[in-house]
Amino acid sequence: MSSASRPSGEELVLILDFGSQYTQLLAQRVRETQTYCEIVPSTITASELAARSPIGVILSGGPSSVYDASAPTIDSGIYELGIPILGVCYGQQLTCKRFGATVEPASRREYGFAELTVNAQGLSTPLFSGMSPRSQAWMSHGDQVTSLGAEFETLASTPTCPNAAVRMKSRAFYGVQFHPEVTHTSEGGTLIRNFVVGICGSSQSWTAKNFVSSSIERIREQVGDARVICGLSGGVDSAVVAALISRAIGDRLTCICVDNGMMRKNEIANIAKIFSENFDVNLIVSDAEERFLTALRGVGDPQEKRKIIGKTFIDVFATEAKRIEGATFLAQGTIYPDVIESGSSVGGHAATIKFHHNVGGLPSDLEFKLVEPLRDLFKGDVRRVGLELGLPEELVWRHPFPGPGLAVRCLGPVDKDSLDCLREADAIVVDEIVSAGLYRETSQVFAVLLPVKSVGVMGDGRTYDNVVAVRCVSTVDFMTADWSRLPYDVLAKISSRIINEVKGVNRVVYDISSKPPATIEWE
Ligand code: XMP
Repeated sequence: MSSASRPSGEELVLILDFGSQYTQLLAQRVRETQTYCEIVPSTITASELAARSPIGVILSGGPSSVYDASAPTIDSGIYELGIPILGVCYGQQLTCKRFGATVEPASRREYGFAELTVNAQGLSTPLFSGMSPRSQAWMSHGDQVTSLGAEFETLASTPTCPNAAVRMKSRAFYGVQFHPEVTHTSEGGTLIRNFVVGICGSSQSWTAKNFVSSSIERIREQVGDARVICGLSGGVDSAVVAALISRAIGDRLTCICVDNGMMRKNEIANIAKIFSENFDVNLIVSDAEERFLTALRGVGDPQEKRKIIGKTFIDVFATEAKRIEGATFLAQGTIYPDVIESGSSVGGHAATIKFHHNVGGLPSDLEFKLVEPLRDLFKGDVRRVGLELGLPEELVWRHPFPGPGLAVRCLGPVDKDSLDCLREADAIVVDEIVSAGLYRETSQVFAVLLPVKSVGVMGDGRTYDNVVAVRCVSTVDFMTADWSRLPYDVLAKISSRIINEVKGVNRVVYDISSKPPATIEWE
């Protein structure tokens, strides 16, 4: 089993995944302790695991019951390696059952907050070092450990869960029934740091600064004297990739920014300014607005619009790329969740080319080798690296923006006038959210131009104009999202500015739908 690209000499924590919805969160929490970690399938063998020399192992939670006929388990040899292990939820139950404790269904599935009481024994262990005897813990389980047998002792409990945290007497194993990785567990971050630093002995050397210097070395080694091209979309991932590669190979990097006419207000000018002022890169801005608008004329179906934009993007990018002599490498902003989701976290490289989520790839006559310096990073890591590279905060903390851009927020067929109208309204939404200090608290904020007209009155006259919907959501993973409870004053300001400043709009509505059942985008 090979690592995607474990930084050389870097300490490693391995997370064995039993399929919990929180596994990625667990990995992010470990990374926040400045310790490198990877998620691997729970089927890893003891010898494969030993070959990776991890300083610690975490067994994740998962949807199974240890009594399911096909319940996943781990190679027992892993317990004999002498490596500290933390079992979370299913990981705790599995280990407790394996070593003689009893696991039984709780009287009812426990989901939500519980008050955690750490006993005197618990408080004396390094796992609970510096933690309060009472705190809040987040529970999500059906089974729980009931009687412990001779091998374990209880460290903490909740009113309904007598063995909410346990320790094994003969091995460096700790188990918790609750989820320290979710923010609802008030001291969860401390517990994870206690395990990784206090118990596994991490020297906390996996910092953004060290990542930047080791990445630069790796990129130089991989690329040699060749040239690299990189698509810049205005998003944080591609910007960080470009900044890193530029630090590594200077002006042998050429960035291509395709202006498809669906970008946010001043987006292209801003990105060009940041890169020309701070980095030694060649930047090509390809003005393809006309081409995109022509291809999209009269097309109202959302998926069809996406397909056309994806294909046109590839055509434009490929034409520009062919002009750059000696370019044999293509840089991509693939990040760790993409790698995990493509199922290639164990060895191998994701083969897909990701310009947009919905784009199939470059034509086969355009062959590039890939440079993917962020493929081991979560979004939070990418942002820390961006700041380390000197990228401005407003770029580093940018909300995600879909590949097809404003086209999927301008419902139905699009044209230049409707996109310009939406661009202005969108800029006002973002501007007011930033002014109110709410940009970092929210995950995505934008305007949507609806394909309906409504009656209004302005001055003495009747108007019959467009309606703009404002969408503002908070989410951790973009799979579920809640609409943001914006203060009325902020909503009022957004509404009055859009109606007064954007020609052709006489009504603003606020979208109060959560995902699911709604999606974040309207198309
Ligand atoms: P939904 O609308 O599915 O969006 O709740 C979830 C996240 O994905 C983004 N999104 C896209 N990103 N190409 C992209 O690159 C697309 O076609 C696309 N559609 C949605 C959306 O902005 C949100 O962050």
